[in-house]
Amino acid sequence: MATMAPEPTRRDFLFIATGAVGAVGLASAIWPFVSQMAPDAATVAAGAPVDFDLAPVTEGQIVKLFWRGKLIFVRHRTAQEIKDAQAADLGSMRDPEPDQKRVKSGKDQWLVVYGNCTHLGCVPLGNEGAYKGWFCPCHGSVFDTSGRIRQGPAPTNLPIPPFEFVSDTKIRIG
Ligand code: FES
Repeated sequence: MATMAPEPTRRDFLFIATGAVGAVGLASAIWPFVSQMAPDAATVAAGAPVDFDLAPVTEGQIVKLFWRGKLIFVRHRTAQEIKDAQAADLGSMRDPEPDQKRVKSGKDQWLVVYGNCTHLGCVPLGNEGAYKGWFCPCHGSVFDTSGRIRQGPAPTNLPIPPFEFVSDTKIRIG
């Protein structure tokens, strides 16, 4: 990523709660995220890695969070979304990349991508567009369930941030 956004603020973390809308009763499930994603201010300011508990993220859900001031989507993909991502024709893609290279081995259900459109930085809408991945309302870029650009002006796929699994249900971003 060429540019760096301002460091995260408390408002950023609160956005986790407001960003993961769409499921009834989700608010109560999200507040633990805020807690777990809110290390002390000095840690945040230093851009340290953050751990994120995947257990409360239900299948089909996309959660938004911030790391180093950058928006990140954590998507718990359904079996169909995984199948579609794996079966997609790479030859038809602007930025061809196998789905297997965009997820961790054996963890195909978890897609973690930066959340700003690679065209001009708008925030795409999840589960929208022809491929049911993301649709960017600004100029019509369409991403698939692997976060790959499939239609519209965005030049590249949604990038993958540095992260690893530290347990079966927890990732460390950074
Ligand atoms: S910013 Fe997303 S299509 Fe232009």
